[in-house]
Amino acid sequence: MTDPTHPREPILRVVPMPSDINSNGHIFGGWVLAQMDIAGGIVAGRVANGPVATVAIETMKFIAPILVRDLVSIYAQVARRGRTSVAISIDVVAERHGVADPIPLTSAIFTFVAIGEDARPRKLPTGTA
Ligand SMILES: CC(C)(COP(=O)(O)OP(=O)(O)OC[C@H]1O[C@@H](n2cnc3c(N)ncnc32)[C@H](O)[C@@H]1OP(=O)(O)O)[C@@H](O)C(=O)NCCC(=O)NCCS
Repeated sequence: MTDPTHPREPILRVVPMPSDINSNGHIFGGWVLAQMDIAGGIVAGRVANGPVATVAIETMKFIAPILVRDLVSIYAQVARRGRTSVAISIDVVAERHGVADPIPLTSAIFTFVAIGEDARPRKLPTGTA
């Protein structure tokens, strides 16, 4: 089985829809953030072996616009494990018709906290991804 925390394969591949376009004709930054949060949450949830909450997003820059019909790939891997938190390094690239190489779009570190049934921080289990 492929290691889910290693970025050889994207955690998500998604094609934005026309409803995700802003008035510039590009994809909303918030849409990209949502995809990153979903991908990071998948990896963090495996580490936590349960629910996680997003506690912080490192400063990020949008390098290039995303266009409708781009195939957007989200790579995510564990950058750091804490006591209750896990930092996930996330990279977003687009494949575009007529462009040979994937286009880097943005990168960021998302930090997630494992939470218990009381929605309070919970110690990360040992031996997870
Ligand atoms: C996530 C939440 C339960 C954490 O509770 P908290 O009282 O702030 O937690 P703590 O201060 O005990 O910190 C918990 C962990 O988060 C880390 N953390 C807290 N704030 C952080 C920040 N700004 N950046 C990075 N890590 C942070 C702490 O270092 C700690 O990690 P560690 O245990 O690995 O050392 C709480 O902040 C919360 O519910 N936030 C809202 C989450 C949410 O709804 N997210 C969706 C976006 S709307």
